Amino acid sequence: MVAMTRSLDVSRDLHATALRHLAGGVSSDARRTSGVPLYVDRAEGARLWDVDGNVYLDFVLGQGPALLGHCPPAVVEAVSRQVARGIVYSAQHEAEVRVAERLCSMIPSAERVRFNTVGSEAAHAAWRLARGHTRRPKILKFEGHYHGWLDPVLYSVHPAVHLAGPADSPVPVPGTAGQPQATDLVIAPWNDLDALTEIMAEHAGEIAAVVCEPVLCNTGAIEPLPGFLEAVRALCDEHGSLLVFDEIITGFRLAPGGAQEYLGVTPDLAVFGKAMAGGMQVSALVGRAAVMDTISSGKVAHAGTFNSQPVGIAAAEATLRILDEDREEVYGTLYARGRALMAGLREAAAKAGVPMLVEGPGPVFQTYFTDAESVRDYRDFARTDRARMALLHAALLDRGVNMVPRGLWFLSTAHTEADIAATVDAFGDALAALPLG
Ligand SMILES: Cc1ncc(COP(=O)(O)O)c(C=O)c1O
Repeated sequence: MVAMTRSLDVSRDLHATALRHLAGGVSSDARRTSGVPLYVDRAEGARLWDVDGNVYLDFVLGQGPALLGHCPPAVVEAVSRQVARGIVYSAQHEAEVRVAERLCSMIPSAERVRFNTVGSEAAHAAWRLARGHTRRPKILKFEGHYHGWLDPVLYSVHPAVHLAGPADSPVPVPGTAGQPQATDLVIAPWNDLDALTEIMAEHAGEIAAVVCEPVLCNTGAIEPLPGFLEAVRALCDEHGSLLVFDEIITGFRLAPGGAQEYLGVTPDLAVFGKAMAGGMQVSALVGRAAVMDTISSGKVAHAGTFNSQPVGIAAAEATLRILDEDREEVYGTLYARGRALMAGLREAAAKAGVPMLVEGPGPVFQTYFTDAESVRDYRDFARTDRARMALLHAALLDRGVNMVPRGLWFLSTAHTEADIAATVDAFGDALAALPLG
């Protein structure tokens, strides 16, 4: 790919106006940048076009949802058909029953389903259900894991290390001003079984649930060490705590049944979102019938005007049909493209003499500027050169490649071998253009 010089005149003008009307010029803090944000005009397949006419190979994919690429025809068709039949019912309808049935057949832990709109909401529902079901007050979450932006969960995601306590017994650190104090929240380091065992013993009888991203994708792309999640499952059983997987990223991306299928560990509850509806906003809380019955019986409240909104459900139905029925082709392509890109980026970094790790399952993976041998938890991640990753992100955009600014890459079935080769070329070029570190 030839280095392109981007013209951003239209984007710059829009941003100047946006700064006068949108707080911070953006609609989500995840889109803040030091320069001009991407103003997308349209998206199709593996590509984005911005308002200045620049084209990007897209590895952000709406932060993960566009697993089948942007605008998959079957989803566009299903959504268009449904829009003409009603956009919102706030009532039950046939398709949601079919989608719930399919989810129960695809996801190992899913015996019952409740739909929500976005991931943060479903995660919130899981935490409430865990507390209500077990009648215990505390939730244990891992440092570096993200479960949405709501008050109770936005703790210790990317805390300043000097505020975060010892590595083996971290303290909760709020993610924003304006949050109430963390009550009944216990933080543990990821991938450290000894520390977890000790922390759970310290809070014996009080922990309603242990919650995790089964493959940590909001702090690098960090798989559990061999045996770690199995041991977490056993510890939960020993202590009578529920195990909750936040599969908002891993769901449908790593396997049709999510990370729980990919890793072979079944939680009690799990939450899904992002990739389940081809880009529409649908999330779901799923779990064992015995636990979900605490919602069925009305003991734990769960609601939402837009739950099972029919346009989103039509998109989910079309998406899940493809993921389920064409699973070999879908996941064969995702893993092949992801692993080819990982190998290509590693090679490009080695050629440029840049110490870099490229790690993750393949359909999602992370590039890190580090000379460490591996990244196993948040503290390792915090030692990587994140400022340099931000420079690389900007250099890649200038060359027509859009990755998640922190160095995370999402693959879709729309990425071709030629797209991967072009991305590797652009990556080598971008690395060479970075100021000396
Ligand atoms: C693991 C995880 N959980 C929860 C969420 C929150 O989802 P949403 O942004 O749809 O509210 C996210 C969002 O990125 C996520 O990555």
